[in-house]
Amino acid sequence: MTTLVIGGAGYIGSHVVRLLLEQGERVIVVDDLSTGLRSRAEGAELLELDVTRPEAREVLAESLRSSGADSVIHFAAHKQVGESVENPEMYWHDNIGGLANVLSACASAEVRDVVFSSSAAVYGVPDVDLVTEDLTPRPINPYGATKYVGEWMLADAERAHGMRTVALRYFNVAGAGWPELADTAVMNLVPIVLDALEQGRAPVVFGDDYDTPDGTGIRDYVHVLDLAHAHLAALDYLRGEERPHRVFNVGTGEGSSVLEVIDAIARARGIEITPEIGARRPGDPARLICSGDRIAQTLGWKSEHGLDDIVRSAVEARAAALAPDADAYPEG
Ligand SMILES: NC(=O)c1ccc[n+]([C@@H]2O[C@H](COP(=O)([O-])OP(=O)(O)OC[C@H]3O[C@@H](n4cnc5c(N)ncnc54)[C@H](O)[C@@H]3O)[C@@H](O)[C@H]2O)c1
Repeated sequence: MTTLVIGGAGYIGSHVVRLLLEQGERVIVVDDLSTGLRSRAEGAELLELDVTRPEAREVLAESLRSSGADSVIHFAAHKQVGESVENPEMYWHDNIGGLANVLSACASAEVRDVVFSSSAAVYGVPDVDLVTEDLTPRPINPYGATKYVGEWMLADAERAHGMRTVALRYFNVAGAGWPELADTAVMNLVPIVLDALEQGRAPVVFGDDYDTPDGTGIRDYVHVLDLAHAHLAALDYLRGEERPHRVFNVGTGEGSSVLEVIDAIARARGIEITPEIGARRPGDPARLICSGDRIAQTLGWKSEHGLDDIVRSAVEARAAALAPDADAYPEG
């Protein structure tokens, strides 16, 4: 089997690439290395390409045809909520335009199976404790909107071209399956806290007056390695016969508060952490916890790692990257 992994040099994509290579599949990584690292695509073929460019559609179609690829996993996207609010045009153009090129290349090369990185951001601020896929998405920022539009585009491509697609709505992704594939971006809670500690700053907690047991926001943290396995399960599902659903949440079904995550980091580092308490951020729900029933029942996928595993792997990866002879994060 041959899979084109678009954005495969990124944090999540590189974990999937590694698992696919381990199970003996041929992998072609398509990446413009804007946030990805060449070193993360090691072992796969690498096609350096910006998929948002007008010519990308034909280049992708040609790569799909010449490699005989049977499936595509599309990770490449901008993913910063704040940036999307300030510059929505970039998100429309790149996240939606990039996906349009990918889907039309698949249609042209008659590649049927596509897995797409969606996000819990499609749900916005849901007024329920456990988020199921049946809930009507109401994204509250352009980033979440581009992911929801992406899901519509997959549905259109299914109708028009007989494609078979899965959109995985990731909840809070963290940890590292291998130290060298760790998240290098400082955007999610675990890397933000680790970064603050390295710089000798107290991590900031945005709001401790939510209606939760310790007053801080609760999220569903899923280990990136578990998430990567969910992509393999999605590919198997697309290659099978039965296909009752095309959208799946990916999370653990368990919530951890900001303070619980900080405590887990303190345990893993063997230190005490006293966070600074700041104001709430607009648009942050008190809790966002995934119902994992659909993916468990349909794809047979369940997370295996809990918060302590996630945090330990992230802390170990940071330590490896900071070691004097570390080459975990080489340039490009
Ligand atoms: N990390 C999370 O917590 C999270 C949560 C929900 C959804 N997602 C989604 O998962 C996907 C992957 O996220 P990630 O955390 O691995 O991000 P990442 O930035 O590490 O990976 C994205 C990869 O895509 C590449 N890329 C970006 N634009 C491209 C373009 N125009 N052409 C070719 N390659 C391009 C980058 O170089 C990078 O290798 C994204 O679609 C993101 O929206 C991530």
